[in-house]
Amino acid sequence: MKLTVSGKFFAVVLVTAFATTAQAAVDYSKERTARMKSMDSAVNEILNQTGGLFRYEEKTVLKKLDVLRTELSRIPETFPAGSESDATKANIWTDASGFADAIQSSLDQVERLAKAVADKDKKQVRQEAKGLQKQCRACHGTYREDEY
Ligand code: HEC
Repeated sequence: MKLTVSGKFFAVVLVTAFATTAQAAVDYSKERTARMKSMDSAVNEILNQTGGLFRYEEKTVLKKLDVLRTELSRIPETFPAGSESDATKANIWTDASGFADAIQSSLDQVERLAKAVADKDKKQVRQEAKGLQKQCRACHGTYREDEY
């Protein structure tokens, strides 16, 4: 079959539309994985910088805190109703306010760490950095399937 230019264009649009619809169900889970992973490397970098020899570079820590602010505030939009995965517990949706609280306490912890950095209080920085990881784990403990 010989397609005209507009025919070809139409075919491409159709294929794209089909592919988008077919992928919609898994996309949230993929997006979450990518976002969570970027939070994971941010937290690891912060812990590396603030643990051990204690020589953190303010600029780096602050940059990672910005990543966390962005990613944490985007959590709600990547967990819409109907986007369950093997790694999610149902209470994400049945206890939506608890889930929202877990996001908020993580955001609060980011600000506590940012304040400690601004105060140049190294001991406090280390403390709050550990507290950050606790926040991630607290949410996972309640809303994420254990084996994941
Ligand atoms: C409000 C709850 C909540 C908070 C806060 C949270 N997570 Fe998650 N996280 C989840 C859930 C739920 C999943 C499973 C989502 C899925 O895979 O569909 C998950 C998955 C992950 C994964 C696995 C990604 C994969 O599939 O490989 C990593 C890594 C992760 N989170 C890191 C973090 C880090 C680091 C923080 C803290 C900065 C954090 N999370 C904060 C709820 C949360």
